[in-house]
Formats: sequence, C-alpha cells, structure tokens
Amino acid sequence: MALWGGRFEKGVDAFTQEFGASLEVDKAMAQQDIAGSRAHAKMLAEQGIISEPDQQAIDAGLADISGQIANGSFAWDVNDEDIHMAVEGALTRNIGTPGARLHTGRSRNDQVATDIRLYAKELCSHLMEGNRSLRRVFLDVAEKNMGVVMPGYTHLQHAQPVLFSHHMLAYFWMFTRDYTRLVAARDAADANPLGAAALAGTTYPLDRQRTTELLGFDHAIPNSLDAVSDRDYLLDLEYACSVSMMHLSRLCEEIVLWSSTEFGFVTLSDSYSTGSSIMPQKKNPDFAELTRGKCGRVYGDLMALLTTMKSLPLAYNKDLQECKEGPMDAAKTLSDCMEIAAGMLETMTVNADVMLDQARRGFTAATDVADYLAKKGMPFREAHRVVGELVLYCEKHGKGLEDLTADEFRAASDLFDDGIAADLDPEGIARARTTYGGTGHSAVAAQLEEARAALAAA
Ligand code: ARG
Repeated sequence: MALWGGRFEKGVDAFTQEFGASLEVDKAMAQQDIAGSRAHAKMLAEQGIISEPDQQAIDAGLADISGQIANGSFAWDVNDEDIHMAVEGALTRNIGTPGARLHTGRSRNDQVATDIRLYAKELCSHLMEGNRSLRRVFLDVAEKNMGVVMPGYTHLQHAQPVLFSHHMLAYFWMFTRDYTRLVAARDAADANPLGAAALAGTTYPLDRQRTTELLGFDHAIPNSLDAVSDRDYLLDLEYACSVSMMHLSRLCEEIVLWSSTEFGFVTLSDSYSTGSSIMPQKKNPDFAELTRGKCGRVYGDLMALLTTMKSLPLAYNKDLQECKEGPMDAAKTLSDCMEIAAGMLETMTVNADVMLDQARRGFTAATDVADYLAKKGMPFREAHRVVGELVLYCEKHGKGLEDLTADEFRAASDLFDDGIAADLDPEGIARARTTYGGTGHSAVAAQLEEARAALAAA
C-alpha cells in the first residue's frame, strides 16, 4: 500500500505503477532527499512540532539509510513511486512511529523541488569545475604554441593570417562566458522551496529561514505556489549546457576539419582516434564527431523541458516529474564532452609548418597590400580595387602576391616600393595587428595575461 493509500480501495496495476513512478531517475538525488528530510526534522524539533527524541531517531535512521544507499546495500522496492516514498517508507519500517512524523508540515511537492534545487546546484558546481579545466587547457595550448601562424578564415575561405594561439583564446573567452552562465544557473537554483508544503504553506509554525540555513540555500522562496511549480532554474541550467555544447560543437567541427588530409593542421593522438573495421589506413576523429553530435541531445533536453512547462497551470502538476531526466542528461553530456575536448586538445600535435604554408596561400596578404597603398595616401576604396585587380592578375598567371616582381606591383600602382613582396610574410602580417584584441604577437601575449587573470578570478 502506498504511503498515500488511505482513501483508495484498490491499487493501480503493475504497468500503471511503473508508468507513474520516478524512482529510477530520482535515485541520483537520494542524498539530497535525505539532507532535506534531516533539515526538515531538525527544524520541526527546534520549533517544538516534534519531540527531540523523535528527531534524534529520525536523524539516525536517515543517516543509516544514507549510508546504505551510498554503499549499495539499500533494498529498493519497485513499488515505491519515488525517492521520497522510498526513503520515508524505509525510515518508518526501520524506526517506527517517529518516522511517521517526518512528513509533518511537508508535501512531496516542496520536497521534490528542494531535492532538485540541491541537485541542480551540485550539477552546476561540477560543470563549473569541468569548464575551468577545459579553459586551462586552451590557455596552455595557446601558450605552448605562441608564434604559430595559421590562415584565419571567413566563409571558410582564407582571409588573413592569425596566430593559432589567438584562435585558441577565442574559445577560451567563449567558455568563460559559459562559466558565467553556469554561475547564473546555480544562483537561480539557490533558493529554498521547503515549507511551501503542497502549494499554500502550512499551519505548523515552520521556520523556513532555518531550513534555508541548514541546507545552505541563499534565501527562502517568498511564494509557496511559485516554490512548488517553478522549474525555470533547470531551463537556465539546460540553456547554459546548450550554449556550451554549441561552443564545443564548433571546436570539434574545426578539429575534424583540421585533422583531415586536406588541412593537416593537427594530428590527433591515437588515444583520441579510432580505426576502421575495413579500411586499414583510417584514423578517424570519432570523439570530436561524437561531441559535435551530442550537441543535439542537449538542445533536445532544453526543448523538451520548455515544452513540458508550457501552459502548465499553477501549482504542482505531475507533468513536473518529467523535468529531472533532461537536466541530468544535459549536465552529464556536457561534463563528459568537456573532458574529452580537453584531452583531445592537450594531446594533439599542432603542425605549425603546414599551418604557416597554408597561411601564405589564398592571397591572405591582400588586405595588407591595400593598407600599404592607403597608408601612402591612396583612398582605401581605390586601394581595394587596385589590389583586387592584382589578385585577378595573379590568378590568371598562377602566382601568389608574394611571387610578383616589383615591376609587376608598380604596373598596378607607382606607390609600390621595391621590397614590397618581402612585407607579405604571414608572420609579419599577423605581428602588425597590435590593436587590443588583435592577433599581433604582443596583443596576443597581453590577451593571454588577461585570460590567465580571468581564469584565476572565475
Ligand atoms: N515523483 C514526483 C515528482 O517527481 C514527486 C512529487 C509528487 N507529488 C504529487 N503530488 N504527486 O515530481
């Protein structure tokens, strides 16, 4: 008989019972459920609502169950609908009447909200740690490869030479913003619903500030209806995960491209590659692809919860039981993917010579040649046209800009001096971009400092 079985004459059948249950998903937050119950019982005793000896028996009984769940010896009963009933049922079986007093002034509605909020806070903290480890790797890879020049792209066409470190640091900043999104999600979860009871509060003189303090929440939620029916902090978590997965998918897409024969910019470590069952030569970037692919399921988790929440009337509805699996999945997926990405980046070989060679191709110096003319007084728009014509000339003659003779340059404009071709070295071009946030060596060195400080701060 369920703990709520008093008003029922018959139970649901096994399949229906299983359909309605959330125990399997809830198991992940068993310790949070117990922590919530211990805080509730302590507060009840302090308020004189239950006796001290009852509270002590409850506390010891719950500690016992907590230990059993942690060491795997707890006897789960498939007939328990959820973690709340599993724990309370076991407690009452173990300690008798005091256990039956635990649920005074409480409902599973505020209980489940408490569990999820405690659990969400932990998920966020764990993800923040993973995010920091990954960002550290971007900094290390950037520092180790300082000076490596690669082609920068727009439209996936060669645009201008950039430092590979600059490219790595671009990701560092994306993940720094992801970190602030995780902090925001954790802060959103950091409020105590306990004491809201079913929906309306309770007639017992509960001290909600006390359970807030005991459970380490920032504050008590001011409205009982909101407390039991709100799940938007989980949307914040899933959104934070989604954006971070999107960033990972962009990184992984680049790793897939860079490790291809066409690019050859990086060589992945064997430990982050797989072979083919038929083609002996293959070395595939499976883990980058899988990370890219897993972005989809995390977006799906976000969409699923948004859709579940849509149009739900206040306050608690059983629909809300569906809100737990998605965030758990999103957080686990992001956590795993960040770890994989960090390992992949740390162990890959950067083929500096290939990158530099490619940085020369595709007229990546064209902007600088136009700037050269503009700095000598030619209006930039005109310089742009002159260099465009030079590029066309090069294409017709199968040359690069750096292959042109001084005379060929001068045929386009007499503002060109001898030795212009020597200025077209990609390293020099990158080096010259010294504005704040630019790809010049000095600017990137300063950026690296700023990034280290940012990581130290958060
Ligand atoms: N298993 C439920 C959930 O996960 C707990 C709350 C159930 N409350 C209720 N009134 N049915 O949301």
